[in-house]
Amino acid sequence: MSFSSRRRNYLLTHHRRDGLIEWMKSMLMHSFVLDALDTTGADTFSHFEMLIEEHREICASEGPKARSSRLTQLVPTCGTFHTYLPLRRAFDVYNAKYGLTKRKHICISFNELRHILNLAQIMALCSNHRRCYSTEKENEEQAQKHLEALELRSAMDLLHSPAHLAAVAPEGCPPSLNLNGNGSYHTRDAVDIGDSRRSFRGPTMITFDGDQTLYSDGANFESNQELAQYLYLLVRNGVTVAVVTAAGYEYQTEKYELRLSGLLAFFKDRGMSTDDCERFYLFGGECNYLLRLGSDFRLHAVKETGTGGWQTATRNLDDAPGNWDELQCTALLDMAEECMQLALEEQRLKARLIRKKRSVGLVPLMNELIPREALDETILRVQSELRSRPDITLPFCAFNGGRDAWLDCGNKRVGVEVLQTYLGVPAESTLHIGDQFLNTGNDFAAREICPCVWITSPEETTYILKSILRLAGVPLNEKNREKGSESHGRVGDAGPAETQVATLNLKEVERRNDQVKTMDVFTGEMITKS
Ligand code: IMP
Ligand code: MG
Repeated sequence: MSFSSRRRNYLLTHHRRDGLIEWMKSMLMHSFVLDALDTTGADTFSHFEMLIEEHREICASEGPKARSSRLTQLVPTCGTFHTYLPLRRAFDVYNAKYGLTKRKHICISFNELRHILNLAQIMALCSNHRRCYSTEKENEEQAQKHLEALELRSAMDLLHSPAHLAAVAPEGCPPSLNLNGNGSYHTRDAVDIGDSRRSFRGPTMITFDGDQTLYSDGANFESNQELAQYLYLLVRNGVTVAVVTAAGYEYQTEKYELRLSGLLAFFKDRGMSTDDCERFYLFGGECNYLLRLGSDFRLHAVKETGTGGWQTATRNLDDAPGNWDELQCTALLDMAEECMQLALEEQRLKARLIRKKRSVGLVPLMNELIPREALDETILRVQSELRSRPDITLPFCAFNGGRDAWLDCGNKRVGVEVLQTYLGVPAESTLHIGDQFLNTGNDFAAREICPCVWITSPEETTYILKSILRLAGVPLNEKNREKGSESHGRVGDAGPAETQVATLNLKEVERRNDQVKTMDVFTGEMITKS
């Protein structure tokens, strides 16, 4: 490849990072400079909302790749909008709380826009309104209601937390955006969700990225009780919860259990019912290994083929793993391995390659740190190499994991789509929450298949779940221990005011954590302690 075409590729790929949020930022800048944000800010969000809705209508009639809308002319890289987005309302709520438009020196930032988009997305999923750039008065009343429901206390604190500041993305594409689904149709394979699901006003299924969304990069879910409590409440209210992670250890279930040790111990301590347990899934290796929680609080492989097998049930999806050709997998991995090896040598990285059945990884040598630029370069090389090969038709994901770089067979679009098909959950009733929505990240692919929320830390995930539960009408401060308690933390339960923090079976967590410390999260190998 010539230098100029390489350079062009670089510019093209980086241009893809300047998505909707960058465009919104530039639109708001004019008013800010003219000191007019206070009077025109909300109208600008109405305008965004209208352009997105117009785009959605065009896509509905011309297909999801339609490029003739005004929005695509302004933002050629915008993703799919799966639901209506009440952006003005979300802005009103956020602005009422934080007074963004009163600021004189600092314009609305990338991260504030990300928060407003996230808020609009969860509002869309948790209420029935469709189009609502209605009258100003109606909007104000609704915004006030949402504000009260949400008690938006912590978004600003999060913006200034060290974890957040470290993770701030300077540029990037927006999460994909979308409509409510209270339609909870399920296939025969789906668990019977009973009454609670019917009254829960929120997504039917929430899929979560693992690293940096539920736990810090490379760490495990240890004792984050607040997050565990919200996940528990979601499952209790009939929501299917699935961790869709790139981490792949084939069907060695104990390795995934180790990574989720604190969460599983929390569920066990709560005495979660069998039905509720069975609503909790983990998809390992992006879309390769499907596991489900059993009543013994252990993860079990879901059968792949035959009646009720997940691969058999998703054969109608062209890209689903049940249709993959093993020779193609090998060819894909060989090419990526060769490309990564060259990247490792040319950039003189203190790294090594790992080859697994469905992935190749470039990971740091002990205690070394691979620079972000080198990881991005490696990934962009792999992506452009694989895209230039017409014989490669398998879905794949080449991504920068923060400390490492990977090529996986399959991606999170396939993972989420398989779950939607297998469990009978429509796209607009699904929500994916993740931290990697740049084009070198592995949550990016999920934008195609469902609404997404882009977070940057487990603290933000906690905040988002709290907001979803509040908007869906779930009491948060109840005594909702399952054993011997009258309230079960379901919609309609009237719990007492004080929060009851679950007392965890700490011995169990310690036992599991002890084991966790001895596992290499890249390979899944156990490291014997001396
Ligand atoms: P996620 O953020 O939950 O999708 O996890 C991504 C991280 O999982 C990567 O950054 C790696 O550190 C780790 N990982 C472990 N095994 C694999 C694998 O086989 N493919 C990709 N990532 C892996
Ligand atoms: Mg992640």
